[in-house]
Amino acid sequence: MPAYRPPRIAASEITPEPFFLDRRRFLAAAGGLVLGGAGVADAAELKASGSRYKVEETLTPEKDVTTYNNFYEFGTGKGDPAANSGGFKPAPWRVKVDGLVGKPREFGLEELLALPLEERTYRMRCVEAWSMVIPWVGFPLASLLDKVEPLGSAKYVAFETVVRPEEMPGQSGYFQPLPWPYREGLRLDEARHPLTILSVGLYGKTLPNQNGAPIRLVVPWKYGFKGIKSIVRISLTDTPPPCTWNLAAPDEYGFYANVNPAVDHPRWSQATENRIGEGGFFGSNRRDTLAFNGYADDVAGLYSDMDLRVNF
Ligand code: MTE
Repeated sequence: MPAYRPPRIAASEITPEPFFLDRRRFLAAAGGLVLGGAGVADAAELKASGSRYKVEETLTPEKDVTTYNNFYEFGTGKGDPAANSGGFKPAPWRVKVDGLVGKPREFGLEELLALPLEERTYRMRCVEAWSMVIPWVGFPLASLLDKVEPLGSAKYVAFETVVRPEEMPGQSGYFQPLPWPYREGLRLDEARHPLTILSVGLYGKTLPNQNGAPIRLVVPWKYGFKGIKSIVRISLTDTPPPCTWNLAAPDEYGFYANVNPAVDHPRWSQATENRIGEGGFFGSNRRDTLAFNGYADDVAGLYSDMDLRVNF
């Protein structure tokens, strides 16, 4: 837990409905990438698309969201990603989308930022039993997948993080905590679910390097390690993709990794979680963990024929 204790903010103050964000300013912050281009002139606002996309809970302060991170490419300490990612260059950037698709191709960051962006305020529950509430900016992964026309044979989606040892000290030091690139995967129906987004920002600003700039996955009903950062490749496959933590410790980190208070990690309980930035010396920040991280109404049906103790 960080020592910093931020003030509490009423949910009503931080979740105005509908939410508007000036797209021109957002793109300017993203490096002036398409200023003056066609994508900027026609869209002046961002809108939240529905209440299930906005958790009515106190937002985790931006300072905590951007200084308490897991991004092992920059070190394994919670403060390492913020401290060590200053030299990382999130632009220019390209994402290759290939595999079992009719139209494989690369997308430049400008093209992705020109997609209709939305704000999504989601809970994030790390497998380490801490959690946050984060106002992401992004677009549904499904809208990108549609552009490459997945084939009928595609069943899974595989993701890969960039490998840049010269910019990522965790990839170049004597101690290598994980094999690179960091990899993750989803079933195609999970990837196409409307809650699943690719995020390009948070708190109405460009995504900070430590949070996965310039583009990272957010799947709010799964443990945070599924949210792969700094993505350079997305491939559609017919077999389950390799996933970094699942390969490293298959008895501790499953492929599905759905948030589940009834299935403990072998070394700790998953029944409760620490909400980062709340509580403090006299107050408790411990709260019950919710099935599917509170998104059961939306996603439990995806797993109705599965034993979630086996497929954890
Ligand atoms: N992606 C990459 N490439 N490398 C990582 O180490 N850590 C994961 C996930 N994505 C990680 C990653 C874990 S364990 C978590 S909990 C989330 O990122 C943390 O996201 P945050 O730092 O933005 O809160």
